[in-house]
Amino acid sequence: MSPPMETLDYPGEAPDGLHVAIIMDGNGRWAKARGLPRSLGHRAGVAALRRTVEGARELGVNRLTVFGFSTENWRRPREEVSELLRLLRAYFHSDLGRLEREGVRVRIVGRRTGLEPDILEMIRDAEARTASNSRFHLQVAFNYGGRADIVDAARAFAAAVERGEANAYDLDEAAFASRLSTAGSPPPDLIIRTGFERRLSNFLLWDCAYAELVFQDIYWPDYGPEQLRAAIAEYLTRERRFGGVQPHDIRAAV
Ligand code: FPP
Repeated sequence: MSPPMETLDYPGEAPDGLHVAIIMDGNGRWAKARGLPRSLGHRAGVAALRRTVEGARELGVNRLTVFGFSTENWRRPREEVSELLRLLRAYFHSDLGRLEREGVRVRIVGRRTGLEPDILEMIRDAEARTASNSRFHLQVAFNYGGRADIVDAARAFAAAVERGEANAYDLDEAAFASRLSTAGSPPPDLIIRTGFERRLSNFLLWDCAYAELVFQDIYWPDYGPEQLRAAIAEYLTRERRFGGVQPHDIRAAV
């Protein structure tokens, strides 16, 4: 048994709780291993997401960002794309009321242009209904790509320059980050990827600069609070220096 998270101190920079981001990979392989269609893997993935969101807060997490659908996922077979969109709609339809009552602020990050009107309406509704909540932040990356987000921020800045509202030479990291779809959110402390792969797959490319990475060899539909607890325990063994040095390193150097 691992110790309860409340007894463990987080190292410093996240007084309100950790920001954990998850690449929920392995739905298709989970289904294949059971002789099931991929769609059932995605459905089981939604159940895993629900379990994980429910367990996250008592593990000291106050913000969870999940990779729901990438800008590249449109390349999947049409039926699979439809199923993923259907599951997203169904998730908000069935869970938004409860999330709202439980004080969860919901935010969708990613590119909005080109999305179907009913999806845009669903996003606006979810964000508006939960806008005054702050107990927990659930961020769903939908039609999200790290490169696309960087390009969109660059375009937005260029447009501001063109309108005379910004000066090109004043661009700094903060001005750039304020134009990302993730603007206003602290960067992730921990990025988890399930599904036996060791890559970021275009997730949070700007935001991941100092995130700790934990890869867990489990298919996403089998995930839940116990696996999240294990990932956080691994995170707690890491020493975060943000490019600097820890005090004991300074002592060693003088
Ligand atoms: C990767 O599995 C997962 C996805 C493409 C998206 C994750 C989606 C869900 C958990 C369900 C819907 C999401 C929300 C936010 C309601 P994969 O299909 O790439 O798995 P594979 O690598 O085994 O084929």
